[in-house]
Amino acid sequence: MNEVIKLLQSHRSIRKFSDKAIDQKTINSIIASGQAAATSSNVQGTTVIQVNDGEAREKLVTFSGGQKYIASAGAFFVFCADLKRSAQACALEGGEFTQGMTEHFIIATIDVALFAQNCTIAAESLGMGICYIGGLRNNPAEVSELLDLPENVYPVFGLCIGYPEQDPEVKPRLPLDAVLMQDRYDADVLAPGIKAYDEHMRAYYRSRTGGKKDSNWSSEMRSLVGKESRPHMRSFLDSKGFTML
Ligand SMILES: Cc1cc2nc3c(=O)[nH]c(=O)nc-3n(C[C@H](O)[C@H](O)[C@H](O)COP(=O)(O)O)c2cc1C
Repeated sequence: MNEVIKLLQSHRSIRKFSDKAIDQKTINSIIASGQAAATSSNVQGTTVIQVNDGEAREKLVTFSGGQKYIASAGAFFVFCADLKRSAQACALEGGEFTQGMTEHFIIATIDVALFAQNCTIAAESLGMGICYIGGLRNNPAEVSELLDLPENVYPVFGLCIGYPEQDPEVKPRLPLDAVLMQDRYDADVLAPGIKAYDEHMRAYYRSRTGGKKDSNWSSEMRSLVGKESRPHMRSFLDSKGFTML
């Protein structure tokens, strides 16, 4: 264990923030830490929109299904996968952007995730808390319109950053041997890993909710992957030029 590993393993999402402001210099340093992440072929396919305007934040609360911490966090950002900038660079050199490649979509989306996760670690190292907001994808077209996102740019998720006003427990993860396999995929480890984790998670949910939430990981997954999830994403991405050729 060193301090970095301790910090990484003490992560928990924060959904209640104090009204302590974050100065722009600190924000710039958090975002510059995101920029320092590895990026596929140096594409740097991330654009971050810092949303300061109170009305816009309230709209994003609505677009995300009422997640009020979007409005109360010290800072809120929309992380966008951006191929427009590299398309423009390509044009500057007399080239023609090949729009709609699945591989380009994957590159930009991975870039966004790595960038954002660096930002979260930077923020957490400064005593702040974070919460990702995938809920923005409930209404991606409305989010795009609000932020003037052009073609070849789409909102991947939001990120709340602020000083925590709660101290939740760290959420347990799957046992290591259910996720780290040696030399080949071993499907036999799944069932025992899930069973052990289900017991752990049931105890965690009970303790976090004073006994009210009686669930486990498998039933959470049943609700999540046992039904369609944001099926509008396919046509939304098409409309933004991410046609997946
Ligand atoms: C891409 C992404 C999107 C997420 N979207 C939301 C969200 O919309 N609202 C929310 O409250 N939490 C959201 N989360 C937080 C997860 O629920 C949380 O990370 C997970 O349950 C593990 O808990 P922990 O972060 O406290 O360890 C998101 C996390 C990720 C990585």
